[in-house]
Amino acid sequence: MPQLIDGKKIAAEIKDELKEKVSKLKEEGIHICLAVIQVGDDPASSIYVNNKKKACAYIGIESLAYELPEETTQEELVSLVQKLNGDAKVNGILVQLPLPDHIDADAIIRTISPDKDVDGFHPESVGRLCIGAEGFVSCTPAGVIQLLKRSGIGIAGKECVVIGRSNIVGKPMSILLLRENGTVTITHSRTEDLKKVTGRADILVVAIGRPKFVTKDFVKAGAVVIDVGMHRNADNKLCGDVDFEDVKDKVSAITPVPGGVGPMTIAMLMYNCVRAAMK
Ligand code: GUN
Repeated sequence: MPQLIDGKKIAAEIKDELKEKVSKLKEEGIHICLAVIQVGDDPASSIYVNNKKKACAYIGIESLAYELPEETTQEELVSLVQKLNGDAKVNGILVQLPLPDHIDADAIIRTISPDKDVDGFHPESVGRLCIGAEGFVSCTPAGVIQLLKRSGIGIAGKECVVIGRSNIVGKPMSILLLRENGTVTITHSRTEDLKKVTGRADILVVAIGRPKFVTKDFVKAGAVVIDVGMHRNADNKLCGDVDFEDVKDKVSAITPVPGGVGPMTIAMLMYNCVRAAMK
């Protein structure tokens, strides 16, 4: 059996460290507050938002929930974000994605003050990440780095291959691996001979968004495989972008789904909120 990278346990450790930090900050009179905005009532978004609120309550961060109707206009959302930008009590602002089609999500993200951009999606945060300056880092890729580090897996000098080039996962993931001195390749739907490229990876991060896409013929023996995917199959069971059963006997370490990368996203959001308050 490979090493199972236990995201649930590592996320719990991070949340406990943050809880302690927040209680010390409280003694110094620093109170932390996250504003969470949801537009419409997409059931998956409601679950994510609820989990974020629960994590805030556990750690000792105040959460302000804005549950806005589907018909909310772009102008109304922009003016709420501007109001929260100017509210000294609010340290972090999170607008849950996806937004309804009539709202320009990029414009909303650009409205969030980079000082309160706990999702790390603002172009200034992304630019800072690219040049190695201080700034908020997108939570899922930041969580993957923590999973590797806290599982004793070295990144420096390793062949790291990322499947997927999204702004939220693939691109920031590759920059973070580079920052840790990995040798990084980004692959995507137009990559020729994908298996040949992924077969070089010491560390393979899969964020392609297709259930059980990666089988054992994509991985080198002894590789570390990180699965960012999350899907529900026909019998309502969760699975990732990696065919876990097919791959598990060939690799040295792997994240399960559920219980791998998923819990890390919220833990890193909480980390970003604490950082926002300490700025
Ligand atoms: N929707 C799915 N994941 C995320 C996330 O990490 N942040 C936000 N704002 N929306 C999401």
